[in-house]
Amino acid sequence: MAERVLVTEPIVEEPLNRLRERCQVEVARRGTFDTEEQLVQAVELYDAVLCMLSTPMTENVLEAGRNLKIVANYAVGYDNIDVEAARKHGIHVSNTPDVLTEATADLAWTLLLGVARKINPAQRHLREGKFYGWEPTGFLGTELHGRTMGIIGMGRIGQAAARRARGFGMDVIYHNRNRVDESVEQDLGATYINSVEELVEQADILSLHCPLTDDTRQLIDDDMFHRMPSHAILINTARGPVVDEAALAKALHEERIGGAGLDVYENEPSVHTDLLTAPNCVMLPHIGSATTETRRKMGDLAVDAIIGILDGKDPSNIPNIVTA
Ligand code: DGY
Repeated sequence: MAERVLVTEPIVEEPLNRLRERCQVEVARRGTFDTEEQLVQAVELYDAVLCMLSTPMTENVLEAGRNLKIVANYAVGYDNIDVEAARKHGIHVSNTPDVLTEATADLAWTLLLGVARKINPAQRHLREGKFYGWEPTGFLGTELHGRTMGIIGMGRIGQAAARRARGFGMDVIYHNRNRVDESVEQDLGATYINSVEELVEQADILSLHCPLTDDTRQLIDDDMFHRMPSHAILINTARGPVVDEAALAKALHEERIGGAGLDVYENEPSVHTDLLTAPNCVMLPHIGSATTETRRKMGDLAVDAIIGILDGKDPSNIPNIVTA
């Protein structure tokens, strides 16, 4: 009898069809498995779960998943999964690295350009029929050329964002848990800054690309907003809880910083109401990896990991297994 796989909501079809050739696949309706309680009740039936970053794979869920061999996260970040509990219960965890790097870095830049050049209010102005011709003082934004981009988290996506910054003629400074190789620094023209406070004080643009961990939760808090230059722009395409959203909304309303571009939120899918009314804040609904090509590749990685583990392949030969 083929192993059973739960896919917690519909994903692109091609990888799913491949999974269907090997396993008995159940694709749940969106929203069905967004709570621990729903998962705990159902998970015992499955050998594998292909889940979303919104699926809470907690210790209780993993314990209830007596037959689980792998949890394949349809995301590179896997802070929704209790990895230690998975290890304890002998369940492998996989993610989707690399394939979403360029798409996410592109989106960070989409947000940055949108904020820097006041795209939202300018477009609104035109659509409301208020464009009466070229204006010498209308919608004055800020130039990026010659500015300093501060990157927190110099992994794959941070590096891709830094590469784009070079193309824009910007200086790059960064902070990371571990300093990256000198050759990478040279290639990116990036300077390591040991203290986050110092980085925040020096950056005209602060772009977050770190994972959500105990060390990064609420890293950008009220104190950091006081340290930022008053023209600074914050870009967050990493994880919402890295930023204290209430403090950010306050800093924007008080015009203590220049603006913000956000793709992720502290309590998704909720968005702090004060952010919705904040000036110069471009907000998107967590679409960093949302290109057709990337989402298909993410599906391929998740499906390959599931099939590999169910076929008894050595996990250390499956590159996106994080528990190997
Ligand atoms: C991820 O993969 O972690 C993104 O946030 C969603 O694509």
